[in-house]
Amino acid sequence: MKGIFITIEGGDGSGKSTQIELIKRYVTEHGHDVVLTREPGGTRISEAIRELVLDKSLSEMTDMTEALLYAASRAQHTETYIVPNLIAGKVVICDRYVDSSIVYQGIARGLGDSVRIINEYATNHLTPDLTILLDLSHGESMERKKGQKELDRLEMEEARFHEKVSDGYRQLAHEYPERILRIDASLPIEKIHDMIVQKLKQLID
Ligand code: TYD
Repeated sequence: MKGIFITIEGGDGSGKSTQIELIKRYVTEHGHDVVLTREPGGTRISEAIRELVLDKSLSEMTDMTEALLYAASRAQHTETYIVPNLIAGKVVICDRYVDSSIVYQGIARGLGDSVRIINEYATNHLTPDLTILLDLSHGESMERKKGQKELDRLEMEEARFHEKVSDGYRQLAHEYPERILRIDASLPIEKIHDMIVQKLKQLID
């Protein structure tokens, strides 16, 4: 595949959307075609699964059902959207990907290694070239989000869950230092962007 696959991970309020826009501008200015997408979502079917998995009225959903729904959404997204765009030589920037499942379902929900295995099937082993982790503690994330919007089902989880998420991401970054660039999300926007650019240069120039 000729393209470049970049994923962005981070909890609520970590500034993902801002950094995604800045990356898009940088990559476009360097002559590459960029597509932005997100998970869960990115295709009609994946967006329909998103509605289901984030529906806060479905409180009886089991952890494994949740993990499989995220993986199902991702299977459709990977095969019909991400891979064709990579084959076409585009830079695909995806807001969340497999690492979200490893951390939220595998580590925080406690489903463990089954999540990694399910996702290997779901993605046919497609791994990002670069993953940017915007690392923010749960306390700071809550501060940033105060009063912003109504919380979805996942966001309503308790603080302990979100602490496991932050710890899980750090663990992953430690495990895959070549692929995952961990950045302190409390740094100024421009500083974060500069750090991302340093890494991006190695991929796109
Ligand atoms: P979204 O509104 O896109 O959240 P954010 O702005 O924080 O990215 O909602 C996605 C939610 O789904 C978010 O709480 C994280 C969760 N999630 C998982 O638990 N597993 C996954 O595999 C993915 C992709 C997301």
